[in-house]
Amino acid sequence: MAAVVEAKNITKAFGGVKAVDDVSVSVEAGEILAVVGENGAGKSTLMRILAGIETQDSGQVIVSGEVIPKSDAKASIDAGISLVHQELSLVPEMTVAENILLGSAPTTVGITRTRQMKQIAQAALEEIGVSVDLDERISKLSVALRQFVEIARAVARKPKVLILDEPTASLTPAETDYLLSMLQRLADRGMSIVYISHRIPEVFRLCDTVTILRDGKQISVLDVAKTTPQQVIDQMVGRELKKDLESKRSSSPGHVVLKAVGIRAEGVNDISLEVRAGEIIGLGGLVGAGRTELVRAIIGADPRKLGKVTLTVNGKTKVISSFESAVKAGVGYVPEERRTDGLALTMTVAENITLPNRKELSASGFQLARKIRTFADDLSKRVGLRPPEIDREAGQYSGGNQQKIVIAKWLGRRPALIVLDEPTRGVDVGAKAEIHRLVKELADNGTAVLVVSSDLPELLELADTIHVVRDGTITGTLSQEEADEKRVMSLAAGEQVENA
Ligand SMILES: Nc1ncnc2c1ncn2[C@@H]1O[C@H](COP(=O)(O)OP(=O)(O)OP(=O)(O)O)[C@@H](O)[C@H]1O
Ligand SMILES: [Mg+2]
Repeated sequence: MAAVVEAKNITKAFGGVKAVDDVSVSVEAGEILAVVGENGAGKSTLMRILAGIETQDSGQVIVSGEVIPKSDAKASIDAGISLVHQELSLVPEMTVAENILLGSAPTTVGITRTRQMKQIAQAALEEIGVSVDLDERISKLSVALRQFVEIARAVARKPKVLILDEPTASLTPAETDYLLSMLQRLADRGMSIVYISHRIPEVFRLCDTVTILRDGKQISVLDVAKTTPQQVIDQMVGRELKKDLESKRSSSPGHVVLKAVGIRAEGVNDISLEVRAGEIIGLGGLVGAGRTELVRAIIGADPRKLGKVTLTVNGKTKVISSFESAVKAGVGYVPEERRTDGLALTMTVAENITLPNRKELSASGFQLARKIRTFADDLSKRVGLRPPEIDREAGQYSGGNQQKIVIAKWLGRRPALIVLDEPTRGVDVGAKAEIHRLVKELADNGTAVLVVSSDLPELLELADTIHVVRDGTITGTLSQEEADEKRVMSLAAGEQVENA
């Protein structure tokens, strides 16, 4: 069968780095192609070239036999290529309908236009089977619904090929299931799909073919039915993954560092918790359960309605009333929304990493400059930044690598308490293991760790104790010995835990 979309010998370099190095992919009608690779492998860059948002140095994009013009987003859309970006790209202050039609609204004026617009938006939502008020503002929607509106926007353009760049990163298992069956349905009706994910099981459930990229190069194209997840992972990393020896820490926690009592805030209903020095406390639950709201209220990043938070460091207890006071007292925070909250995208990696660490680096002039470099260099290597070039702007790094920069920034400080919200979302398997190791190391050195994660294996791997949050309250607390996926899930979803 003939390819619907074909990318031929695509190459793209940024400075000296070949982000995409002579890669060719093609999809037939109704085919689902996975594109996998470690952070920085070139997946998003290749997709942006297909969508006409990035300009290739060489190579062609061909749709139904015709070469489409380079770096012409409109031509790509008209030719039938729709991209759902890795980072959400909706306008929060506009409505669902306006966002779906963004950039492709019908041009007739007045009432007809509004009506026509709503019809198109409604049809797109129906096509993907999602019901949401067309007049609701995006800012009022959950992350999952926003993701589905993004997809509706791509589908509204009636694409021949729908490209999704890590669409499940912030979805719950149930929402992921829904998305995968929806994509299967679209493919059954003849739409071609290109699917990017770090979650290999999803690739095996959904895709027909898988292309593996490493450092911009195409390693192979495999028939999913004839390969195994381990083979795919081995080719992605190109080396044997260090099997984490499931280093269960023999935790002997110290004094109480964080004490939060009776916290009430938007989405948080009277929660109290403590974290001791050297202890890792995990917050489990479904996306939207109130965990991000809870940790933000605790560290003063968002207002509290009620409750008291104290931090005890070196025998001194301080009240945390604002984010500023929290940071001053020794709190580190790796937020969920790294692009907006965690990073200065136009600053270099070195600047970002040393920003919260000025005190530790006290020195002056030339000596300071050198110290900063060594410090930033060391940390970026430890978190597995690729490439580890500390003078590059943070914004030039791939999604997963940006996450590593935010983590590096706080690791260097050895904070008294570190709060990590979905620390490895969008991070590849190799780097994930590395980040887990670093978090445990921090705890072993006496830092109190509070981690929010929707990734169950991660939560079970890291946490000494897990509090499960649902609807803004703690519905259960499990020790490391008691915790397993089933118990956490049933507490999270509100079902009875049957006696094991
Ligand atoms: N605008 C840019 N300027 C400079 N370098 C860039 C730019 N965009 C991407 N790169 C580099 O190109 C390479 C590929 O990045 P890309 O975003 O395509 O990776 P990815 O496979 O999507 O990774 P991830 O899984 O982290 O999303 C990386 O080395 C990245 O740093
Ligand atoms: Mg990417």
